[in-house]
Amino acid sequence: MSMDGDLIALVNKLQDTFNAIGGDAVDLPQIVVVGSQSSGKSSVLETIVGRDFLPRGSGIVTRRPLVLQLIHTPDSSSSSSSSSHPIQGRNDFSRRGGNLDHHHNNNNEDDSVNNGYLPNLDNTPTAGAGIMRPGGRQMNEYGNVTYAEFLHINRRFTDFEEIRKEIENETYRVAGQNKGVSKLPINLKIYGPGVLNLTLVDLPGLTKVPVGDQPTDIERQIKNLVLDYISKPNAVILAVSPANVDLANSDALKLARSVDPRGLRTLGVLTKLDLMDAGTNALDILTGRTYPLKLGFVGVVNRSQQDIMQDLPMEDARQKEEDFFKQHPVYRNIAHRCGTKYLAKTLNTVLMTHIREKLPDMKARLNTLMGQTQQELNAFGDATFLGEQHRGSLILKLMTEFSRDFVSSIDGTSLEIST
Ligand code: GDP
Ligand code: NA
Ligand code: MG
Repeated sequence: MSMDGDLIALVNKLQDTFNAIGGDAVDLPQIVVVGSQSSGKSSVLETIVGRDFLPRGSGIVTRRPLVLQLIHTPDSSSSSSSSSHPIQGRNDFSRRGGNLDHHHNNNNEDDSVNNGYLPNLDNTPTAGAGIMRPGGRQMNEYGNVTYAEFLHINRRFTDFEEIRKEIENETYRVAGQNKGVSKLPINLKIYGPGVLNLTLVDLPGLTKVPVGDQPTDIERQIKNLVLDYISKPNAVILAVSPANVDLANSDALKLARSVDPRGLRTLGVLTKLDLMDAGTNALDILTGRTYPLKLGFVGVVNRSQQDIMQDLPMEDARQKEEDFFKQHPVYRNIAHRCGTKYLAKTLNTVLMTHIREKLPDMKARLNTLMGQTQQELNAFGDATFLGEQHRGSLILKLMTEFSRDFVSSIDGTSLEIST
């Protein structure tokens, strides 16, 4: 793995640690997806992952934030890298707060995992990167996913349909049946050799008019929820706007601008380029002449509703998207910086740059937290292996490990670690 990859992996570990101890101590960069309802947010997220697994439908489907960590595993023997993942070996607190209403068994924990086989998601036999689909075409490697885990449940998922159901159940459990919105996030990790290291947050779509049983202040509720995430100075905003609606009316850009007026940490995503009126195009937007964003705009073509209903495979959809740009009389010349694959690469670069910029601050916060933890542990005395103390010492050990890794990954800087 490249050093850049290591850096993001370390940041992901740190995030796990702070999640586990219930703190928001380090304000880690995350890519937050924002847009109006049906602008294509879920579609964009799914194509970045290369799998379709998000609840969808008309109306408000996403009613809790979904914090989605994509974790790149170098090859199909990902069991070693996953079992060396510190948090996974610490079920006592990584699964703290798990939902006791769910009594899933663990019998099939290793089912179809790590034998070089992908979960069988579409009744097509699939293996590592070299699988041939029935059509004889090689499966697009970047969609290669091995398994997924939720923070709230002690179980590995290899069936994306089940992931979708679990997200739905968890949404109902906390946000109720009544189309309400909850700020409590659902945490999901997806592992595989075909995903880039990214942390993405999906949020409920911005909406104007309450429908069904939604409260009258639903617009304000969702706006506040979105603002919670995107106003963090180190959030990277993925502002999704449909190309078939005037960009001047983009809720995503409006809200993004309110917290990032200079457009320094907002990446524009223009969806539905295939649905523009004949004779019109979005070249001016895609080349940055319409709306200034430092990170620019990336145009994508997601699966249409008809594609979804006809179960058009993801990889076919990606090929269709690629062809769309390469063959388009206007987009042909910028095809190399259009499309989902380019979007995923851009996101990874953006995240990396962002992390590097924030490192000094993260280190300072980590130092402070470690100092506090050390003091608490000193108060407990040394070698106790019961209850809270045990957990505390585990946490300290983890944090120390992470910090050492962290430091060794950064040239010429160091944390003052007191253990
Ligand atoms: P969300 O509400 O923002 O999460 O939007 P979805 O991802 O659920 O998409 C809403 C609808 O728009 C679905 O029917 C998608 O199939 C469709 N859609 C999304 N992106 C595109 C696109 O680029 N082209 C076409 N033709 N349809 C799209
Ligand atoms: Na939708
Ligand atoms: Mg959605």
